[in-house]
Amino acid sequence: MTEPAKQPNDTPLDDSLRPHIYDGIQEYDKRLPRWWLLTLYGAMVFAVAYWGYYHAYEIGTPPAKALEAEMAANAAAAANKSGEITDELLWKMSHDVQVLSAGKATFDTTCAVCHKPDMTGLIGPNLVDNQWIHGGKPMDSLKTITEGVLAKGMPPWGPVLGKQKIAEVVAYIMAHHHPGEEIIVVAGWTPPAGVVPPPPAQ
Ligand code: HEC
Repeated sequence: MTEPAKQPNDTPLDDSLRPHIYDGIQEYDKRLPRWWLLTLYGAMVFAVAYWGYYHAYEIGTPPAKALEAEMAANAAAAANKSGEITDELLWKMSHDVQVLSAGKATFDTTCAVCHKPDMTGLIGPNLVDNQWIHGGKPMDSLKTITEGVLAKGMPPWGPVLGKQKIAEVVAYIMAHHHPGEEIIVVAGWTPPAGVVPPPPAQ
């Protein structure tokens, strides 16, 4: 049955016939086109180089991290647009999911020890009611947070967090309020019983 393959007359010169026949079918040993091979080898080289550059040796910033940095830069640029932060901008930021998650992260790590994670107050005052010691507008909070009230135990966060993070954290606080809400200015905060030294007069 199987006899040595014969080269039919119409065979292209560079394609040799394989020496087998299955069910009467013969195969040519077709060489892969050079462009195809180059694409394949090129892809392999690229993959190894890419892996080394971004992942194994981290010479370049991986795209996901680059995107993150760019988004943060955009948010910062938006906050710093015309170099000025205003009540209006902070209210707007208080609806931005990304700003809020950044603000929450800062609040939970930096502020929650004194204000409680739900902001209802501990050593520091409640930030979700409408009573404020230093004013309840976004810019009032921004000022209090930036400059602090050292004498009363509220550290100045300006040098620690910077403008952007403070704006985010204010936006996060303001997400619990709304513009035009009644603001009652009070003299001080009474911490829950047993938390801190005697409550200041109110
Ligand atoms: C060490 C405890 C402590 C930490 C940490 C702290 N605070 Fe305070 N915070 C206070 C105290 C105490 C006051 C009240 C100051 C006063 O009585 O004048 C206050 C006041 C404030 C006020 C003004 C509230 C008002 O009624 O006017 C805001 C807003 C505020 N803090 C936000 C923050 C934010 C945001 C952070 C984190 C970046 C933070 N605080 C971290 C203790 C703290």
